[in-house]
This record gives sequence, structure tokens and C-alpha cells, in this order.
Amino acid sequence: MTNGTKGNTRHQEMVQQADQAVEALFPQAGREKFRLGYHFMPRAGWMNDPNGLIHFQGEYHLFYQHHPYSGMNGPMHWGHAKSGDLIHWEHLPVALAPSEAWELAEQGGMGCWSGSAVDHDGTLTLIYTAHADGRKPEEVQCLAESTDGVVFLKHPRPVIAGAPEEGIAGFRDPKVWRHGEMWYMVLGSGKAGRGRILLYQSHNLLDWEYKGVPVESDGSEGDMWECPDLFPLGDKHVLILSPMNMAQSKNWYMIGSMDYEAGIFTPESKGRLDWGPDFYAAQSFPDHRGRRLVMGWMDRWGSRMSLQDRSWYGAMTLPRELRLTEKGELVFLPVAEAEGLRGQERRWDSRVLEDGAAWIAAGEDGQGFEWMGEFCFPDTEAGELEIAMLQTEESGEETLLRYESEPRRLVLDTCKAGIGDADISTAELPLSRGGRLRLRVYVDRSSIEVFVNDGEQVMTSRVYPSRLAGSLRFTSKGGSVSLESLSVWTLEAIWP
Ligand code: FRU
Repeated sequence: MTNGTKGNTRHQEMVQQADQAVEALFPQAGREKFRLGYHFMPRAGWMNDPNGLIHFQGEYHLFYQHHPYSGMNGPMHWGHAKSGDLIHWEHLPVALAPSEAWELAEQGGMGCWSGSAVDHDGTLTLIYTAHADGRKPEEVQCLAESTDGVVFLKHPRPVIAGAPEEGIAGFRDPKVWRHGEMWYMVLGSGKAGRGRILLYQSHNLLDWEYKGVPVESDGSEGDMWECPDLFPLGDKHVLILSPMNMAQSKNWYMIGSMDYEAGIFTPESKGRLDWGPDFYAAQSFPDHRGRRLVMGWMDRWGSRMSLQDRSWYGAMTLPRELRLTEKGELVFLPVAEAEGLRGQERRWDSRVLEDGAAWIAAGEDGQGFEWMGEFCFPDTEAGELEIAMLQTEESGEETLLRYESEPRRLVLDTCKAGIGDADISTAELPLSRGGRLRLRVYVDRSSIEVFVNDGEQVMTSRVYPSRLAGSLRFTSKGGSVSLESLSVWTLEAIWP
């Protein structure tokens, strides 16, 4: 079906050019001060959405939106990496470069946009959106295949040549999966101010039949739904979205049921996937161990740091495992493999954090770490616990995590975190937990991920402090708090 035509020769030339560009930028990008220790990031150049996440022939593959020519957003390629354990990644050649008329690279088009991957009887198949600003149609769905998992041949024509109707906002980010004997695809779109998904069906991945709109926004959930992902979890289906212009959140999920016959998804509950500012375009995939895994772009469009060219930009979150609890709630936990990064553990005995007094758990500077703490708050006392991380006396920098009891919530405050964006993010905490709070926090050179109470909530943020300080400072205010346990592990760097 795909062949070694002229088109694919041109494509391979553009892939080579892109790889050379990354190579040329790497000496500079690789030395940059905010490079991460144990998160996935490109060797050099820009990165946004995770694409085509798949476990294929014994390895995990991660593709990503990539502009290899600078640390700024530009015509999109698909970067590529693989891993045996979801934690240590090996960079591979660029998988897709914009080379076709509908990707319009020569004329300033925006290239190969987001999409997904499937294993088609042993062929690794990528389905993605080609986008060209102002062209009609602006967005079409394309396909490329590989038998060795490294070199991809493009299908000679788009497999969906245009949107099913006029006047819709966006037609992109195909997520494809198999159900029964058929392939299904959801695409992100919107109409009349309401985000929506579009459903297609195919028996061969090439001929697609439009099945309609399974679900759309209730009016408060954004006007265009980017990167939709609909998948089974337990006896439910979950829909993950990246809504544009939703007041409340930049990520959203719905748990409900999918009627494949009718092509209708009926949501039963909804919520946020992540309560921090830097979690976008999340994509999920099933693995061979029966897990449903999710990675998100650990960044946002328009951030301060995205507006300066530092030869590279963009990181992925740690892979998270998604589970549905017996109560039907979603929880997110770092994959078990992340524990393999742990080096030496420092542990503190339980203690009372007295009202007003600061207590410091001294740590090692310059290395990424994970800490886990369990706290008990006496119900009778209103109060606050402030946890300061990444602090530097001289500069006054600090990243604050604050537990507030009335109303009960967790606040991540990056206003003094460094040269990145100043944000105050709030996660509402469920009320009845017997005054207990468990935190598991990953700190890397320029990121922080907070997992609350076994993954009930997650808060993710990029932070850009002048140095990676390892100590933690705990201050209880308006009452005492009991610290039941605290462990800190330094985490091994995955990059040489
Ligand atoms: C989401 C997104 C997608 C699009 C891609 C372009 O961040 O805007 O909708 O396909 O990024 O890079």
C-alpha cells in the first residue's frame, strides 16, 4: 500500500535533514541549565504533545510533536524514542517530517500534527493530522507505516480528505483503537462554541466511515476539544480531552459508557486529570501487562519559557498508570517502574510540627529527588501546613505546596519559584479522610509533580529555579500537625 515512490524518497531526505538539525543543536541544548534529570525530553529542538504511544514488539514507543530546527514552535515533525521500562529512553531518528503537498512544508505549513499508533498485524501504523494554515481543507488525516519500527513510509494520499461538514472548528488529533472486528477513530473538533468529538469506523485503517458525534460540551467545557482519547477502563469507557478555552481547566475527563452501535458516549461523571498548570495533550495506551498508561505534555502553550529559544523546549510527565477505583473514581499513580530510579533513602521518624515553627529536612542539592510524607491534621484545629521546596536563601526563591484546612485544599504556588510562570493552582481535597494526607512528590531540575492520597489528585508544574535545592522546609500555621513519616530518595538521572 505504501511504497518507495518519489514521495517517500523526499520524505526520507527531510527526515535526514531533521536529524542533522537535532545533531547540530545538541551541543548547545544538551548543556542548557534546565535540562531534566529523569523525565523524557528531546535531544534538541521543540517538543509538545505525546503522540503514538504504544507497546510494540516488546518495547514502548513514544512519538512526539517536534520542531527539530530550533527550541521554538514550528512546522511539526514526529520525534521518536523507545524504552524497555518506560523510564529509560533511547532517542531514534525522526519518524515523520512534513514532505507532502497537504503538509505544505515548503510553503510554511504546520506539518504533521498529533495522532496515534496501532499495531496492524505486526506493522506499526501511525495515523496523524496534516495541517496547513489557510488551505482548504485545512486538516486531513494521514497514515504512515513501518515494519522495523524506525523508518516510516507515508501512504500516498490522506485517508480522510476533509471534515464531514462545513463550519466546524478543528478536525484533528486522530486516536485510533480496535473494538471487536473494527477500527475506530475519534477526532477533536468543535461547533458553535462547543467542543465535540467525531467518530469514524474502518475495517482496514484506509477506508473510514463517518459515524457522527458521540458527545459534545455541555456549554462550559471549551469550544474545541484537542487530543481526544476514548478507551475502555474496567467496565466503563473514559474520554480524555484537552479543551481549548475552558475556564476551569486545560484538561478534562469523562467516565461513562460507549454504545458502539449507536456511536454515542454517555458521560456519568467528569473531572480534572491534573490540577497543575502544566499538563496538556495527554494520551493513553494499553500495555502488555494489562495497564492503562498515560503521559502528558508537561508544559503549556504560551508559557514564558516557550517564548525564548533555548535550543530545546518541552518535557513529558512521568508515565502514570490510570485506574478506576471501586467507587468508580479515576486515580493516577506514577508507574511502578519509577521506583527503579531510587537511590539512597533518607528517612525521618514521626514528629509533631509545632505551630509556627519551621522544621527542615536537609537534602542533597543538585540532584532530582522524590519524597513521600504522611501527615495527620487534628480536626479541631483550623490551620495550614506550608511545604517549601527548591529554595535558595540568596534569591528568595521557593516553590510552595500549601495544605489549607478551610476549605480543605492543596495549593501549589510558583509565584517565587524562579524565572518561569507565576501560578497559584488549587486542588480541592475530598473531605472525609480522617484528617490524613499523603503526598508523593517528584522534583526534577525544572519540574514538580505532586501525587495526593494514592493518586486521587495530581498537580504538575514546570518551575525554573536558579538551582536544584534538595531540602524541604515544613511550617505549620494555626495549630500543630503530626508528621507520621517522611522519606526522601535521590533519583538517578536517565540521561548521560
Ligand atoms: C495540542 C495541539 C494539537 C495539534 C498539535 C500541534 O497541543 O494543538 O491539537 O495537533 O498540538 O502541534
